Amino acid sequence: MPVTPTPADKFTFGLWTVGWQARDPFGDATRGALDPVRSVNELAKRGAYGVTFHDDDLIPFGSNDSDRAQIIQRFKKTLEETGMKVPMMTTNLFSHPVFKDGAFTSNDRDIRRYALRKVIRNLDLAAEMGAETYVCWGGREGSESDAAKDAYVSHERMREAFNLLSQYVIDKGYKMKFAIEPKPNEPRGDIFLPTIGHAMAFINTLDHPEMVGLNPEVGHEQMSNLNFVHGIAQALWQGKLFHIDLNGQHGPKFDQDLVFGHGDVKSAFFLVDLLEHYKYSGPKHFDYKPARTEDDAGVWQSATSNMRTYLLLKERAIAYRNDPRVIDAMKESRIPELEVPTLAKGETWKDLADPSFDVESAGARGMGYEKLNQLALEHLMGVRA
Ligand code: GCO
Ligand code: MN
Ligand code: MN
Repeated sequence: MPVTPTPADKFTFGLWTVGWQARDPFGDATRGALDPVRSVNELAKRGAYGVTFHDDDLIPFGSNDSDRAQIIQRFKKTLEETGMKVPMMTTNLFSHPVFKDGAFTSNDRDIRRYALRKVIRNLDLAAEMGAETYVCWGGREGSESDAAKDAYVSHERMREAFNLLSQYVIDKGYKMKFAIEPKPNEPRGDIFLPTIGHAMAFINTLDHPEMVGLNPEVGHEQMSNLNFVHGIAQALWQGKLFHIDLNGQHGPKFDQDLVFGHGDVKSAFFLVDLLEHYKYSGPKHFDYKPARTEDDAGVWQSATSNMRTYLLLKERAIAYRNDPRVIDAMKESRIPELEVPTLAKGETWKDLADPSFDVESAGARGMGYEKLNQLALEHLMGVRA
């Protein structure tokens, strides 16, 4: 299988990823600003399918209407020239000081209303760009102290915001769905809807739950020490995996946003296996930060690394599943048996009785998972025999 990315692979990048100037809480930028037009060209050359962006990534905050129109026109021209798509867009509700206490959950009502106007304005642009997913990352929806904010009421305001935005999309006739991106902390001490599970439960309370799903990010679940593969499996199973942010993270610490696979590579292997096996068909979106140590060449090198890692893991996952040793080991481990419903057709709880079941021998039987685990590891390392 080729490891040369092509648009058919549906790889996308946020403009803010390659465009990150590497300013961190302790140091200044180590790279210059990137023209979004150049980013589109560079990513197209490397086989990407499209780009995504926050309103302010393309149109600097505070731009007047005529500058805004010009920027959009120039950008659209590049999209046409390169064939690059914009399948997802999002709003910056975290950089300007006005959002220091959040947007949809700011204690200041005027700020909440301003935030909704900012989203609505960019929703119009998203529809114009042909985006069908609108990501909502609640970057500053949270607090540093429980004294600061009524967390109970905050959820009501969050609900109000999603209901209002869904109604806007319906009224405008846009073909747009929302994808909530959970994150436990950073930049706030604690962020509302911190995990996949919290967000999925919240969606059930909305007026239009069918319009709202998830955009989970690898590192964000791993920051909370959660199993990303399990989270994604549940989101897929519930029809809520609208989008995905692929990157790398080394366990519970600050949000690293490493290149995909450069964190927990074994989890990345099983993630790709899951996405491919259950035919996730949305964009594979990389939300990473090229390390602060890298220059311009390093930025583009790392962009390619994300895509190559995905394709290589896909190749390894397919080889794993097709290996006769693995097929046998899976049978020994009773993996296919989990697909058989626990009750046969027509059975009820009344049919559970089974006098022949030997609880002691069932308890003594080994599962053989260590063998499978090692086979997975060896496939991941490229060992074939
Ligand atoms: C993060 C987040 C952000 C969001 C993006 C979309 O790393 O903390 O992933 O990058 O995905 O801002 O709104
Ligand atoms: Mn992140
Ligand atoms: Mn993200």
